[in-house]
Amino acid sequence: MGYRVAVVGATGAVGREMLSILEERQFPADEVIAVASSRSAGQTIMFGGDELTVQDLAKFDFKGVDIGLFSPGGAVSAQYAPKAAAAGCVVIDNTSHFRMDPDIPLVVPEVNAHAIAQYPKRNIIANPNCSTAEMVVALKPLHDLARIKRVSVATYQSTGGAGQAGMDELFEQTRAIYNNQPIERKKFTKQIAFNVIPHIDKFMDDGQTKEEWKMAVETKKILDPKIEVFATCVRVPVLIGHGLAVHAEFERPIDEDAARAALRAASGVAVVDHRADEGYVTPAECAGEDPVYVSRIRRDPTVKHGLGFWVVADNLRKGAALNAVQIAETLIKAYLRKAA
Ligand SMILES: NC(=O)c1ccc[n+]([C@@H]2O[C@H](COP(=O)([O-])OP(=O)(O)OC[C@H]3O[C@@H](n4cnc5c(N)ncnc54)[C@H](OP(=O)(O)O)[C@@H]3O)[C@@H](O)[C@H]2O)c1
Repeated sequence: MGYRVAVVGATGAVGREMLSILEERQFPADEVIAVASSRSAGQTIMFGGDELTVQDLAKFDFKGVDIGLFSPGGAVSAQYAPKAAAAGCVVIDNTSHFRMDPDIPLVVPEVNAHAIAQYPKRNIIANPNCSTAEMVVALKPLHDLARIKRVSVATYQSTGGAGQAGMDELFEQTRAIYNNQPIERKKFTKQIAFNVIPHIDKFMDDGQTKEEWKMAVETKKILDPKIEVFATCVRVPVLIGHGLAVHAEFERPIDEDAARAALRAASGVAVVDHRADEGYVTPAECAGEDPVYVSRIRRDPTVKHGLGFWVVADNLRKGAALNAVQIAETLIKAYLRKAA
């Protein structure tokens, strides 16, 4: 009486993480199907001790599939998610394609699980951008406490945010530099090894990048349309784990202790905040972990009611695959009820 689940983009960085999270959390699936492009069709991929043969998305029939966890890239989701949805499969999509569609809920379960109720409009639920997902988990308890007016954030985003090819590029460039060989650029616009790049996704007319725009509009859609967000998104030479330096301005007074207590009580958040060496969390430490870690909480004396803090999470997990599986868990518990 379990579900048939298709993981679309199963050979990619997010897709592989989806498979491990489905297994770890013992998702009630009768069958898990790995789907990717014709390039990897026929290859095998491990899932819970079984070998799954990768299916070609272009030939795959979604009839009888209950849930599709999609991460094959925006253009591919744009083409295939509506087809899967029309065949009766509820699609949970990780790409940016459907996020701002007013008929499609954009969900982080700790923040707006109630929005899932809108899924029957299109049979598609969108997963947010990786940095937005971890930021709103940390902002939600603080917003409940003192109402956030404005957020200024600088991101330190790992190469894993650009998929497997991004991580490979960091590794290859680092090796080339050690071996005194020329570096090759494929995925990133400048050298990423031993460097940082203040540019993620394309430039928009107003000078911000699309990644920065996504953080602003997605936060409004998930948490509160009144919150203003100004972001600078930066790629850093880290394999997994996005860090965010967040500066939030509130309507009401907020003190550090109350903020720390609210964050400690919040679902999905772990506070590690000792004002000493090692008293904070870094990307290398959060890789493979589920929580959104919050450290370095301190008052910002330059605004009336301000707080600064550091947020870090595994972008492949809370920023993508874990959030998608949590949506699927909420969906089956509250709406599909097949396994009940
Ligand atoms: N990485 C992150 O932290 C993160 C976070 C949030 C959202 N996302 C989004 O999730 C998506 C995937 O990201 P990723 O990091 O997993 O990328 P990735 O490592 O490059 O993996 C891409 C996956 O998509 C598949 N794919 C590509 N073209 C396809 C096609 N025409 N038909 C079927 N499958 C196709 C690939 O299959 P083949 O192996 O057959 O090519 C592979 O499984 C992107 O839209 C990204 O923006 C990523």
